[in-house]
Amino acid sequence: MPPVAWEDRHAAFALPDDVRYLDVASTGPRLASVQAAAHAAVELAATPWRSPHDAVMQQVQSVRQRAADLLFGGDVDGVAMIPSAAYGLATAARNVPLARGDAVLVLDGQFPSNLIAWQQRCAEVGAQVVAATPAPGQSLTDAVLAQLQDTPRIAVVSLPHCHWHDGRLLDLDRIAPAVQARGAALVLDLSQSAGVLPVRLDLWKPDFVVSVGYKWLLGPIGLSWLWAAPRWRSQGTPIEQHWITRDPGADWTFPIAAPPPFLPGARRFDAGAINDPIRLAMAAAGLAQLQHWGLPRIAAALAEVTAALDAALEARGLADWKTPGHAPHLTGLRVPGARLDAVAAAFAAHRILCARRQGGLRLAPSLTVRPAQMQAVVEIAASA
Ligand SMILES: Cc1ncc(COP(=O)(O)O)c(C=O)c1O
Repeated sequence: MPPVAWEDRHAAFALPDDVRYLDVASTGPRLASVQAAAHAAVELAATPWRSPHDAVMQQVQSVRQRAADLLFGGDVDGVAMIPSAAYGLATAARNVPLARGDAVLVLDGQFPSNLIAWQQRCAEVGAQVVAATPAPGQSLTDAVLAQLQDTPRIAVVSLPHCHWHDGRLLDLDRIAPAVQARGAALVLDLSQSAGVLPVRLDLWKPDFVVSVGYKWLLGPIGLSWLWAAPRWRSQGTPIEQHWITRDPGADWTFPIAAPPPFLPGARRFDAGAINDPIRLAMAAAGLAQLQHWGLPRIAAALAEVTAALDAALEARGLADWKTPGHAPHLTGLRVPGARLDAVAAAFAAHRILCARRQGGLRLAPSLTVRPAQMQAVVEIAASA
């Protein structure tokens, strides 16, 4: 299916008409083109001889290129294809230098895939995880910068671009240079921002960047993205040893003495089973559509929706239900504890789909939601 024009974006998704979908932070809505690509790939898989190995491997490369173009300034050699964010973060944790007595800085309450890998590596080497916890009224950025200053022997900083509960932003433009000034490695889990917010590799100079593909990138679960800085492309060690990362030559020889060399770039970090034609087809369709629409336009459209929500809350006298400093595409409704059950139930009854996270409701609008709908959403919340 050809990409859908921007003007027709509300109809591009296979969502029922009566649903207001504000839960992209859990799972992106399914584009009709992605759904069609999945169906076609399932059909094709019934006749495996029509999907020769070389054609599938070419599709691996073309999907990698699409992700590189959309997210990483076309740097296709920096991109590895992996099943989950946790896989990419385990790859980062396996590679960045960490010694006894060192510290890894994370954000308090950040997503567990970006915590457990560090806890495990720290336990192995005798290092420790420290968390930046904002004081009341303090921004996440200031909390990270303060923790960075206060912690001796910071070796790694591993962060998101916004908090997964309520979209509070981290100013990576300020944090990244401070990390570099400490000589620490920077690892980023952009699962809740890639596909909306730009990935500023030149400015942030990260070691590794990770994102799932099934939220803002509108692709399938099971195909995620890992970008690795140039030095890891020549000396990094993958967490699994798969034939797909090697160059065995035309006769496909794997000698007993030693494996064939790695394929160039970050391909050494590719995971097994990325040659699944169904996930490849779905990812290709999602990335093509996003490329056609353009990320700045998507960010601006979603920002209008969350700004309309904030304005409606203020107008209704509920300004303290807003989340200060949230991302354009992701925010939290800070409903007082005693009213949370009622508001969640009212949303469910009105088919306003969102997630309950840490004492609030996470609102992550899809492109099917219009700013004008936010007034009704706030009215339903206020009257619950
Ligand atoms: C910030 C963040 N990272 C990662 C993930 C998913 O991680 P994984 O692919 O390891 O399941 C999520 C899912 O909600 C998330 O919010």
